[in-house]
Amino acid sequence: MTFEILDERPEDAALIPPLLDRTFGPDREAKTVYRLREDLAPAAGLGFVAVDPEARMLASLRFWPIAIGPAPAILLGPLAVEPMLQGRGIGRALVRHGLAAAKRQGVALCVVVGEPPYYEPFGFENAQARGLILPGPVDPARFQVLELRIDALEGVSGMIGRAEGADPDPDWLRGGAVA
Ligand SMILES: CC(C)(COP(=O)(O)OP(=O)(O)OC[C@H]1O[C@@H](n2cnc3c(N)ncnc32)[C@H](O)[C@@H]1OP(=O)(O)O)[C@@H](O)C(=O)NCCC(=O)NCCS
Repeated sequence: MTFEILDERPEDAALIPPLLDRTFGPDREAKTVYRLREDLAPAAGLGFVAVDPEARMLASLRFWPIAIGPAPAILLGPLAVEPMLQGRGIGRALVRHGLAAAKRQGVALCVVVGEPPYYEPFGFENAQARGLILPGPVDPARFQVLELRIDALEGVSGMIGRAEGADPDPDWLRGGAVA
């Protein structure tokens, strides 16, 4: 499978929500992580797509700005690969590319809620064990964090929250399905 990774293009924006419906199902927005993203734009310069040789979008990865206590961080995802094309290395290539770009931007910490066997090879580790708390229901085994800068977690712990400047919206803590 020949594919290339590009910065997300303006024309991809309308194609991403239907791709997420096809991969995660239409109830995806009930998840806790969506409360962190609600009404916020994705992290600038950190949207990527995989495309085929005809430049058709095959997969998407976005990151969202969040905070860990007072420390700025990013949330990895959503990551979605066209169902027919899963298992061919596209997802891994997008994650590798996206994390490298975040590191170049100077991002220190990245959080993900996902399958540990998929994310551990990138260096993600259990976030609860490092003293982080995700508000709302979450399977603790899936809640992971990656230091993009050496020892970035030193002195950082506590509740994951919305990025600085976002409406804190006290209601967002309630009603999330398991992430
Ligand atoms: C999960 C997903 C992004 C992976 O992308 P992909 O291009 O299919 O996966 P890759 O080809 O890069 O990697 C394949 C490897 O990941 C493993 N893998 C794929 N999905 C996995 C999952 N949900 N949990 C654990 N491992 C998984 C495969 O078993 C395979 O392992 P192997 O190389 O040891 O055989 C993609 O399958 C997808 O869009 N799934 C639906 C949406 C989703 O669950 N997104 C995850 C967000 S956390």
